[in-house]
Amino acid sequence: MSLEGKVAVVTGAARGQGRSHAVRLAEEGADVIAIDICRPISTVPYPLATAGDLQETAERVRALGRRILAVEVDVRDSLALNAAIAEGLALLGRIDIVVANAGIISFAPVEDITGEMWDEVIDVNLKGVWHTCKAAIPAMKAGGEGGSIVIISSVAGVKAWENQAHYVASKHGVIGLMRTMARELAPHRIRVNTVHPTSVLTDMIDNDGLYRLFRPDHPNPTMADVEPLFWQQNSLPLPWVEPVDISNAVVFLASDQARYITGIMLPVDAGTLLK
Ligand SMILES: NC(=O)c1ccc[n+]([C@@H]2O[C@H](COP(=O)([O-])OP(=O)(O)OC[C@H]3O[C@@H](n4cnc5c(N)ncnc54)[C@H](O)[C@@H]3O)[C@@H](O)[C@H]2O)c1
Repeated sequence: MSLEGKVAVVTGAARGQGRSHAVRLAEEGADVIAIDICRPISTVPYPLATAGDLQETAERVRALGRRILAVEVDVRDSLALNAAIAEGLALLGRIDIVVANAGIISFAPVEDITGEMWDEVIDVNLKGVWHTCKAAIPAMKAGGEGGSIVIISSVAGVKAWENQAHYVASKHGVIGLMRTMARELAPHRIRVNTVHPTSVLTDMIDNDGLYRLFRPDHPNPTMADVEPLFWQQNSLPLPWVEPVDISNAVVFLASDQARYITGIMLPVDAGTLLK
């Protein structure tokens, strides 16, 4: 899996899966440009990462002997994102890998989704992915050694669940973006794929808003009260996977072991899509 000498851009890198991707890529030898908003978004019903979280990611990558540029940027802000990636390119010399991982969710039936909820989810999960790729592609092409773009979609990019039409639409949407980029970038040996996780134990699912959505019958639900519902989703007997399970798929797709894999949707879903 050696990624020695490679440089990876990871968005949403301050915590959860994004931190895990940054650390796993660094374990395999990559240097990292880590991007995260590090502040809340108004319609998201759980806290997003903090500056301290991003700092901790940076420390973990440095502890592995790899270099990292960690920048607080909102992927919706293309100018700031371009500047951060240009700074990373100047510091680290090249860009080989992009992991477009930053994402948010909020919950409501389709007729109750507000314009602001819709825009924030689509702007982060779909437009933000495009911004990220757009900012990195010129350097990947100029590097002349191909590359790998991995977009973190979801099982919600393949099937639907109630109360999250905007999220489901965004996660379906990145598949179209992935397939188009896979065609456009193939002549440059830049591969583009999506990963589709089942539930992953991160703050996105381990929060009060989600407990209440899943257990409206319960006055004060906790994770223990919703856990049985997570078990039902998967075929394999487990409620959720760990961030590193997704990172291992990311590292594979980023590596030369996947050198002829492009344009695919890779589920890491414990058999959810079988159901
Ligand atoms: N947790 C799950 O069950 C699950 C399942 C399938 C897919 N996903 C997807 O995995 C990805 C990672 O989510 P996670 O589970 O690690 O959740 P998380 O909430 O722990 O991490 C998301 C990270 O993205 C950052 N972020 C959010 N909006 C941003 C923006 N506009 N600009 C920059 N950074 C931003 C947050 O601060 C946070 O650090 C997301 O795309 C999510 O949709 C999650």
